[in-house]
Amino acid sequence: MNIQWYPGHMTKAKRAMQEDIKLIDLVIELVDARIPFSSRNPDIDELGKNKARLILLNKSDLASEKYNAVWENYFQKKGCYVVKVNSKSGAGVKNVHTVIQEACKEKIERDRRRGILNRPVRAMVVGIPNVGKSTFINTFAGKACTKTGNKPGVTKGKQWIRLNKNVELLDTPGILWPKFEDPTVGLRLALIGSIRDEILNITEMACELIGILTEHYSGVIKERYEGVDETKKAAEILYDIAKSRACLLKGGEYDFDKAAALFMEEFRSGKLGRITLEFPKEEDSVQKKGESD
Ligand code: G4P
Repeated sequence: MNIQWYPGHMTKAKRAMQEDIKLIDLVIELVDARIPFSSRNPDIDELGKNKARLILLNKSDLASEKYNAVWENYFQKKGCYVVKVNSKSGAGVKNVHTVIQEACKEKIERDRRRGILNRPVRAMVVGIPNVGKSTFINTFAGKACTKTGNKPGVTKGKQWIRLNKNVELLDTPGILWPKFEDPTVGLRLALIGSIRDEILNITEMACELIGILTEHYSGVIKERYEGVDETKKAAEILYDIAKSRACLLKGGEYDFDKAAALFMEEFRSGKLGRITLEFPKEEDSVQKKGESD
């Protein structure tokens, strides 16, 4: 399945981000913990070089705990600071403050040596659409923060959110573009609901998801939908799901589209459990012995 979806304004977004990045010390990059590979664009490595880097595994509440730890380890090995967060509930968000200070300690030390004291770290949030940037900024900044702008040394018109005496955050996040040239990326974004369903074949998507679940999360489908035999082919499993939920067309035939939509909705809202859909390559992932969900 090849998904073509590319917002036309990405070149403009990239240029804007190049300008904004000049003003900051730290890039806070959000990725979706369920698809940390497909929900990021490695262009940020180039754009954000020479900046401190913090990766937030957002929506970690929907991803497998075991794989959250694996991905955390993976990004740390690449030299990034990592925090697992749930921007919606706020879980983990407090830790971000501590890690920002840690990630920027060289800059803080450099400033100190030059006699510059108490200059706040400036940060910006970046990520692809729908990854949770606005939700994170709202939760992280809360209500207590004051907005500042047009200060000397700050580009005119830029709004900064003063989080505390140590940190200022650019109030508009940088939008990264997904790597749609890789069809797997488009598909995975579709599975988590980041691309509108109307442009996709829901039945095909459900079958792809069934494939991933039967391979990596054996028993999960069987447990939720009575009468499913997970050893069958994906389309047959979808038929079993339609049967178990009585998804019927007018003539009494089973309604695959309805079953697929129901299945996708239950997955996306976490009813099938906490599920990560992609995994670092074998050699990248260092799992601690005995680690399990
Ligand atoms: P964006 O700025 O990067 O485009 O993303 P935005 O904050 O708009 O978030 C996109 C969706 O993801 C929102 O759901 C938001 O509530 C949800 N979300 C963000 N962070 C988390 C998280 O850590 N965990 C979970 N479970 N969800 C998160 P929505 O469907 O657009 O709205 P709503 O259903 O929350 O009202």
